[in-house]
Amino acid sequence: MSKKPRTHKLQMSLPVPQPRRNLDLARECKITINENGEPKEYVVNFNELERGDLLGRGQFGTVTRMFHKPSNMTFAVKMINDDLMEGSDSQNQAMDLKAPLKMGDKCPSLIRFFGAIHAESAFWILTEVMDTSLDRFYSKIFALEMKMTELFLSKVAHAVVAALDYMKQLHMMHRDIKPSNILLNYTGEIKVCDFGISGFTTNSVCKTFKGCQRYMPPEKIDPSLTGEGYSIKADIWSLGISLIEIATGHHPFKDSPGLLGLIKVIVSKDPPKLDETKFSPELCEFANKCLVKMPDNRASCSELLDHEFIKKYLEIPNDLEYIKKVMDEVKKDKVDS
Ligand SMILES: Nc1ncnc2c1ncn2[C@@H]1O[C@H](COP(=O)(O)OP(=O)(O)OP(=O)(O)O)[C@@H](O)[C@H]1O
Ligand SMILES: [Mg+2]
Repeated sequence: MSKKPRTHKLQMSLPVPQPRRNLDLARECKITINENGEPKEYVVNFNELERGDLLGRGQFGTVTRMFHKPSNMTFAVKMINDDLMEGSDSQNQAMDLKAPLKMGDKCPSLIRFFGAIHAESAFWILTEVMDTSLDRFYSKIFALEMKMTELFLSKVAHAVVAALDYMKQLHMMHRDIKPSNILLNYTGEIKVCDFGISGFTTNSVCKTFKGCQRYMPPEKIDPSLTGEGYSIKADIWSLGISLIEIATGHHPFKDSPGLLGLIKVIVSKDPPKLDETKFSPELCEFANKCLVKMPDNRASCSELLDHEFIKKYLEIPNDLEYIKKVMDEVKKDKVDS
């Protein structure tokens, strides 16, 4: 009997334009900061924000350093223009923006989110300022022909899984794990950003067609793979792809032509793997466990937190000299204005 070839149903849910939403945001927002161990509330009005340097530029807008004199706080302010939000799901957005506020500052692997403002036909999202993002950091390591250490990779993996684990406890998922959403500091801190607001942007028409879906899991394309629905396991896949990218210096799907080519590779080909002759068995296995096509068989956060690749380096601090050397070079690059 001839076997019928399996046909994948490519049902990636393309966004349907929605009417303009009412997010209930104003020109000002309340922020709570710690002053001498005591929580203190301030109102940040859009007009009080003093613009500093440009920290980065994404598909949806810019991230700028801004100073708020009354609270003496400096924020990284992400600006997302109203027009670019067409096509996102309005209810999800409203919920997603409230969720990160609830998270507070209890998880050291998540960037501190202070609040959001709506002014000048744009959303302004106020977060903690970090020194750079992992996309720029790892590119610099390869540009300088330095070695990407497994100690550093383990610290990145640990921070991301800890952040996802924390989000899971709050019944949230990230939806946009990728190197540019992992930030780091000279102090060796590694933190995930754009949680909450990622639900805000990942479904938008703009993002889908700008080919920024290289981190999406197979179940987003082929829903028949999903046992319990689209879940935090999707973020674990994106972490696996990000780790391969950071470890090798290039995205594993960099050669896939266009969105359809990418979709085909993700659903039809074997998941990408690290070269076992170049990386430790622990790292290779960790990445493989993230990159299992069936989400039900993909590793959970607790399994990954308990993995040898994390435990091996748990007692060893991040190499601050190495981080400084790379970061100093990253800082020499000007962000395009
Ligand atoms: N809190 C922050 N502190 C310092 N730099 C930041 C911060 N947030 C973002 N950046 C920088 O700004 C850049 C742009 O961020 P943004 O989230 O707008 O886009 P992205 O994540 O790079 O890409 P995309 O638009 O595809 O999601 C980041 O790559 C990072 O280098
Ligand atoms: Mg981002």
